[in-house]
Amino acid sequence: MKILVIGSGGREHAIVWKLKESPQVSKIYCAPGNAGIGEIAECINIKADDVKGLLKFVKDSDIDFTVVGPEVALEAGIVDEFNNQGLKIFGPQKNAARLEHSKIFAKDFMKRHNVPTAGYRNFSSTQSKEVSEYLESSKYPLVIKADGLAAGKGVVICANEKEAVKTVKEIFETGVFGRAGSNIVIEEFLESEEVSIFAICDGEDYIVLPASQDHKKIGEGETGKNTGGMGSFAPANKIATPELIEKVKQRIIEPVLRNMKSEGNEFKGCLYCGLMVDKSGDPYVIEFNTRFGDPETQAVLPLVSSDLLDMFIASAEGKIGSYKLELSNDFYCSVVLASKGYPDKYKTGREIKGLDKITKDCIVFHAGTKLDGSKVVSSGGRVLNVTGRSNKNLKEAINTAYENAEIINFENKYYRKDIGQKGL
Ligand code: AMP
Ligand code: GLY
Repeated sequence: MKILVIGSGGREHAIVWKLKESPQVSKIYCAPGNAGIGEIAECINIKADDVKGLLKFVKDSDIDFTVVGPEVALEAGIVDEFNNQGLKIFGPQKNAARLEHSKIFAKDFMKRHNVPTAGYRNFSSTQSKEVSEYLESSKYPLVIKADGLAAGKGVVICANEKEAVKTVKEIFETGVFGRAGSNIVIEEFLESEEVSIFAICDGEDYIVLPASQDHKKIGEGETGKNTGGMGSFAPANKIATPELIEKVKQRIIEPVLRNMKSEGNEFKGCLYCGLMVDKSGDPYVIEFNTRFGDPETQAVLPLVSSDLLDMFIASAEGKIGSYKLELSNDFYCSVVLASKGYPDKYKTGREIKGLDKITKDCIVFHAGTKLDGSKVVSSGGRVLNVTGRSNKNLKEAINTAYENAEIINFENKYYRKDIGQKGL
């Protein structure tokens, strides 16, 4: 089969890399891809949200199955368009993807169906008086979120009223999040540990992949600004006990699938549950994403030993119940090498050296890289995902990732030194 993977990050590199193992796959294209993906697939210069361009490519090239990486393509309605044309694709339709691209939709949905989540209020940019009153009477810290997609950066945790007032002003008046910020959710601050759980869904049924943990902040010990994610590890066995997984299934995944379907928004694809687990071991939804997480995927997919393409097809065709998920007993830790300055300003175009010297128990997934002649150079804030493997324990996987993070070099390389520690 000929496959198209949409996207250009470390997540898509991991998806392409795993799909390559499927005996059913004859050729993989990736749009637009990156330098690392280009070594194992054919990169096509079409943007991830260019639905018309992607559709034309799929028809012209007789693609048998398409896998959507990023949320922008889902919000643009790519799955609806492909479904209408009888083309096979992995992911939710636009209305179902609102679980991610509208925080207000997601919060109201959870409230309607008693899915555990932080208390909240919605406000629009015309309600400045109501917002002020609310902020005056709130407990702090509290969390302000832009309603729409903001590349993982639309969330601000405010320590006091002054910060909250400033944040609301920036969103509504300065427009820091553009259209995504014309409505906001103000939400109670939940303090505990986060875990990411991916459910692969077919509209009714689902399977759960091994849990993972991301590291959202730029600085060690979860300090500084929020980023798209600075590293991950899986399986996150310490936090994701069998009891927790059972609660997540019963209190979150099952009511979400059942009620999305009954409201006419059947959910297919990857339901990413971003959860906060409180001291008594109860999960609360911090966010839903409607696609694989990045960088969690880079630590989770290597654990899958059954055919990934079959999993995607089963999801799209409503047959996930008959998919036999097989997993290895390994441990993975994935450290993001970023450009110094990320998530604010940073320089790109720096040559990356040492990629040919990594050890055999390490996989490097490329995130923001491109070819400059024959050189691989940085082209984004998050540049590489250096992923260590161990068949013994997480500690060894972490050590392998860091050993290789040292072997690879570029001028403004920055990475957190504590990825995976919370899993030990
Ligand atoms: P989101 O984009 O919704 O995942 O939020 C980004 C990050 O902000 C989350 O991964 C959490 O670390 C933090 N966050 C979001 N909502 C809350 C909340 N209600 N309480 C505490 N932290 C939060
Ligand atoms: N790891 C966070 C995300 O994919 O949104």
